[in-house]
Amino acid sequence: MKSPLILPSNSPIAIDQSPHLKAQFSLLVGILTRPDAYDRRHFLRLIYGIQSSPIADIDVKFVLCNLTKAEQRVFIALEIMRFDDIIILDCIENMNYGKTYTYFSSLPQILPRRYDYVMKADDDVFLRLAPLASSLRPLPRLDLYYGFVIPCASQNPFVEYMSGMGFLLSWDLVEWIGESSIPENDIYGPEDKMVGKWLKAGKKAKNRFSNKPAMYDYPGTNGRCSHELIAETVAVHRVKRWDQWFRVLNFFNVTKELKNSTLYYI
Ligand SMILES: *[C@@H]1O[C@H](CO)[C@@H](O)[C@H](O)[C@H]1NC(C)=O
Ligand SMILES: *[C@@H]1O[C@H](CO)[C@@H](O)[C@H](O)[C@H]1NC(C)=O
Ligand SMILES: *[C@@H]1O[C@H](CO)[C@@H](O)[C@H](O)[C@H]1NC(C)=O
Repeated sequence: MKSPLILPSNSPIAIDQSPHLKAQFSLLVGILTRPDAYDRRHFLRLIYGIQSSPIADIDVKFVLCNLTKAEQRVFIALEIMRFDDIIILDCIENMNYGKTYTYFSSLPQILPRRYDYVMKADDDVFLRLAPLASSLRPLPRLDLYYGFVIPCASQNPFVEYMSGMGFLLSWDLVEWIGESSIPENDIYGPEDKMVGKWLKAGKKAKNRFSNKPAMYDYPGTNGRCSHELIAETVAVHRVKRWDQWFRVLNFFNVTKELKNSTLYYI
């Protein structure tokens, strides 16, 4: 899904038309999900379809493994025809048996273009694309590994790995995963942890950035990985129930952008 570049007419951005507002970098966000999660994709298309960043060209796609049912081939074909935001990898649906490896290693071959950054995200995370892009702006475009470092309380991104909620690699590292024998020979295991292991074994990702406290688990769901919602949020993870989505969307004033109209009274 191409995020439209929405410039509200009352924002200072619309007045300032200077060239520096051109996108400075590109980002692919791949949300790993299951073919049958139709309702979740529908909801996430709303969540990401209304977001954009003036400084980044951001594409959001849903990443599946091979379809296994006749009805999926029809329903997902419909989604592709309407939204063109689905990537189907050559794998059997799984979480810790290599889907993340297949995702990164396939991209350089299957994408029609390169991106500066590629993110892997869960389907129970709420990403705020503008703050995400702003946080990337000053960071290196090469050899970068970005996310929420595990363990929860750690502030050192160089010891372990970035949580699977949503982590990001620069394009050179995506290519490296596709070419190196290190990941290829060590595919099975907790998907996020494996990425950290490969990068360590390959002496890669000299540039790392753990975005705490802006990334976290939904309040009260995961010990020290959780904290209260905060204004500078980039990602809230473990947003699963409708009451949790409701609280998150309200907190970040997501629907306050709704324009006045004589057609509805909300
Ligand atoms: C996925 O589907 C393709 C096309 O039908 C097939 O060639 C491939 O073997 C399948 N991959 C797996 C892992 O089942
Ligand atoms: C949401 O809007 C309220 C009222 O305008 C404001 O006080 C609050 O700071 C906003 N929250 C965020 C996260 O921007
Ligand atoms: C929308 O309409 C209401 C009622 O006329 C008005 O009070 C409010 O300021 C309007 N909001 C915007 C954003 O124009």
